[in-house]
Amino acid sequence: MPETRRPLTDIDACVFDAYGTLFDVGAAVGRCRDALGNKVGPLVSLWRAKQAAYSWIRSVMGDYVDFWHITGNSLDFAMSHLGIRGEVLRSRLMELWLRLDVFPDVKDVLGGLKEAGLKTAILSNGSTTMLTASVRSAGIHHLLHQVISADAARNFKPHPDAYQVGVDRLKVPAERILFLASDAWDAAAAAKFGFRTVWVNRFGEPPEALPHKPEYQISSLKELPALLGLK
Ligand code: LAC
Repeated sequence: MPETRRPLTDIDACVFDAYGTLFDVGAAVGRCRDALGNKVGPLVSLWRAKQAAYSWIRSVMGDYVDFWHITGNSLDFAMSHLGIRGEVLRSRLMELWLRLDVFPDVKDVLGGLKEAGLKTAILSNGSTTMLTASVRSAGIHHLLHQVISADAARNFKPHPDAYQVGVDRLKVPAERILFLASDAWDAAAAAKFGFRTVWVNRFGEPPEALPHKPEYQISSLKELPALLGLK
């Protein structure tokens, strides 16, 4: 149990990371199994890892481009590394990011939070175009007060400026925002920034060896209402 655990009271807004937390990227890439065969798994892993790495490298270099561009660059690397070829397949894979499905636990939980009077939002490195397209196609637009892209900071999480965009847009102080992410590094950086944090460890990953541990760890969003004392 993390040492920093405190009851999750005095929360005004639940703010979610997008990819891997609400949206199931792996399932989407699985739709291209006809073309990728047994390379679905390796492509998802390498693409996602490079996508994160390129966002951080760009941040540190001070050479910002939006997450759509990062997603394309990281796909090019992953395809080339895995010997996957084809412009049509590349386009198919990129377009997946505009119509991702949500994990099965998402709609009920967002609906319950909204009903309980909490603000709900996405705070993601994804560009506004990418996020709004998938929010619409997954049918969760009515369950979210705001869809916030770190793009406004021209920087990416885990840079503090990216989390600050969430505070500015929601007009809720950081300490009254509960931030939920499936990446432990994202939860760690959000905790350092000043958010309350929950790590949604969907894939049973070991904890990151980073300071600022998440206050709570859950394996499914279904555990969230009880943590907030709603059920
Ligand atoms: C996001 C990535 C980090 O949605 O999953 O910001």
